[in-house]
Amino acid sequence: MTTARADGPEPGENEELLVERTDDAPRRSRGELRTDLVATSVELVIATVLTSAVFLLLYQRIEADTSDTTLVMPFMNDAAMHWPYWLSQAFGWTALLWSWVTVMLGLAVSGRSPDWLTISPARMERLHRSTSLTTIVLIFAHALVLSWDPADPNLAGSFIPWMYSHPPGRFGVALGVIAFWLAIPLGLSFYLRRRIGPRTWRIAHRFVIVVYILGVWHTLLWGTNVWFDGWVRWLLWALQIPVAVLLVARLLAPARRGERLPLRLSELRQRWSGGTLARLGGRLVAVLAAVALVVVVVTGSIGGRDREDYDRTPAETGHEHEH
Ligand code: HEM
Repeated sequence: MTTARADGPEPGENEELLVERTDDAPRRSRGELRTDLVATSVELVIATVLTSAVFLLLYQRIEADTSDTTLVMPFMNDAAMHWPYWLSQAFGWTALLWSWVTVMLGLAVSGRSPDWLTISPARMERLHRSTSLTTIVLIFAHALVLSWDPADPNLAGSFIPWMYSHPPGRFGVALGVIAFWLAIPLGLSFYLRRRIGPRTWRIAHRFVIVVYILGVWHTLLWGTNVWFDGWVRWLLWALQIPVAVLLVARLLAPARRGERLPLRLSELRQRWSGGTLARLGGRLVAVLAAVALVVVVVTGSIGGRDREDYDRTPAETGHEHEH
């Protein structure tokens, strides 16, 4: 049986244009997954090259004694010994880059595309799916490689929240671990949506933005290469403005008609319900977040520490700076 779509595209429907509930749904889902995995493998090759370049840069900075990581953690100053740590940091950066791209694509595809955008919604959605899978693999690599570091060779620390004991610390790392575990059901359930129902899938996937926010928060809080005030930390903040703007646009002008809110107060009153209130609240939070981000970036109040407070003399432990 096929049900005609009445209110704009569903995620995964841009190609199908119909919500299909047929007996061969599991087979179709597997086919989709296979297509996405092919695109993901290509992206993983690109991501590996990029990660290697970041790794070499970070490694070189440790050797040259110009790294901020060893300013925060002087006991990590043996570049060769701690290679898994630098590699983990490098995977962290590519994971963050891919998650930025996939969030932008996801927001663009679920909002109303402007006319000047030449890329078709179907293509954008395919890219969103493959970049999401790549992001999950990169986060996994970031955490796995971290557990090989001789300073704290602990697999549980990388995958169980609050089990990480190595400085900078537990809370910031826990944010990343939670992001990873949330990304799996909120992202991968796409391939089960015909079983769990498109509505359940859609409601769950709406919260995937939390994964991205946790990833960015984790980086700003505990990334030692963005620990201090400076242009890299500033850029990281600035790159969140387009995400916030697109989120506001997506909420104010959703692609699905059923998600739109009337602009007139009288019409709004007629449709008043808990759901309408939640939608209005969501839009307000998004607008406030976008304004706050602009204020942070324009004023430069980016919350970095001061280099003057840190001493680049090799020490036995770096725990004195643990927060
Ligand atoms: C299982 C999940 C995760 C674990 C165990 C983990 C662990 C860590 C640790 C220990 C650091 C500190 C490294 C340093 O000294 O800079 C770090 C930094 C970082 N993480 Fe994660 N993380 C996880 C998830 C994520 C996620 C979801 C993202 C973003 C998508 C991410 C992106 C980053 C980035 C960009 C850095 C900064 C690296 C640097 O400063 O060079 N991580 N992570």
